[in-house]
Amino acid sequence: MKRILIVGNGAREHVLAETLKHSPQECSLAVFAKASNPALKALATEYHVGNSLSDFEALRTFVGHFNPDFAVIGPENPLADGIVDFLAAMNVPSVGPNQILAQLESSKSFARDLLTKYEIPGNPEFKVFTGAEGIKEFMNKLGGEYVVKADSLKGGKGVKLSGEHLDSIEDGFTYAMECIESDGRVVVEEKFVGEEFSLICFSDGKTIVPCPMAQDHKRAFEGDTGPNTGGMGTYSDANHLLPFLTQDDFDAAMHINQRVVDALKEETGQAFIGFLYGGFIAVKNGVRLIEYNARFGDPEAMNMLSLLKSDFIEICEAMIHGRLEQLNIEFERKATVLKYVVPEGYPDNSVKNEQIGLHPLPEGAKAYFASVDEREGHLYLLGSRAVAMVGHGETLEEAEQIAQAAAETISGPVFFRKDIGTAELIQKRIDHMAKIRN
Ligand code: GLY
Repeated sequence: MKRILIVGNGAREHVLAETLKHSPQECSLAVFAKASNPALKALATEYHVGNSLSDFEALRTFVGHFNPDFAVIGPENPLADGIVDFLAAMNVPSVGPNQILAQLESSKSFARDLLTKYEIPGNPEFKVFTGAEGIKEFMNKLGGEYVVKADSLKGGKGVKLSGEHLDSIEDGFTYAMECIESDGRVVVEEKFVGEEFSLICFSDGKTIVPCPMAQDHKRAFEGDTGPNTGGMGTYSDANHLLPFLTQDDFDAAMHINQRVVDALKEETGQAFIGFLYGGFIAVKNGVRLIEYNARFGDPEAMNMLSLLKSDFIEICEAMIHGRLEQLNIEFERKATVLKYVVPEGYPDNSVKNEQIGLHPLPEGAKAYFASVDEREGHLYLLGSRAVAMVGHGETLEEAEQIAQAAAETISGPVFFRKDIGTAELIQKRIDHMAKIRN
């Protein structure tokens, strides 16, 4: 019986746990969490709720008691804080990069500089600033179309774009100076026009194996309006590409991911073990890198892992031991659509501690719990994204109908984006890409 530690408590960790449990190998799971998650708890033999996922003293006690064979790390913050190094010192290997390698996500300038140094394609025109000098000039050089990226992790709120969050060069400069004040540096870069997509790979530091590609929807409301969120939903297609991308786009993104894993090895002498999440954008003449994450995506993990046919415990062990090239990893050839059901008021003024009702799901649907708690047999909203509803189908149309029907089964003060995965929205993406490329 394998003993596996999972760090985190959202829907991503729910699907990680479910996929480990689906392995033909038996396992017992312990979850190190900072909030309750009744579905994850039901899969675990031990569930610790503390104040922080980076409370390493509490982790030491939990790990000492559970004695895991390995750990799977969900979110970015503990990775950035060195949880993998801490666990390694306790002889627990992890699926997740150590602190140095996790800089790929936790320092935007580290990622950009790595691509430049190793001549990897995909970077925009960019500059890293540590003081005021030259910032406005560079923004002007970019034609006033720029992106300002806080260097460190900011929970998805560190990136601001001209024309969307910043109305002038002066606004951009003010935000860039705030970033310098907080992190000592800031990245200012060219703004891309195109369609974004995620290409997440299993990595053992040498070999990378792609998961089906997916497109996330950041904005809270239909038609891509409203504030940015952690992601309101995602879709993936039965052929594992996306309807607005070509095989060449996939090959270009895979090439960048492989070169980055190789460059990390050369730069640090260490193997990137875990989930390498390339956030890309297809543009007029190819593919560019928006940013890297050093972990599985949320929501993407639910689209991808719910399709995995191969033994996930074997994949995790292969990542840890550098044996990925020996595996034949397969995903079902089905389309998926995911709609996150979130509290009214999300993301800025979410209702909390209100009861929601979960009713029987349509066939082909799966529910993954995120920010919900169970009290006396009832589910309550905790304030962030609540339940991810995933539909599987032979086509995107079928998967969308199932996800939509599943999301509608939740009663209470919640909402979700009805447009995610619809034929209309996907056609818009295809038309947008065609217009840009012609
Ligand atoms: N899909 C967005 C994220 O995982 O950060």
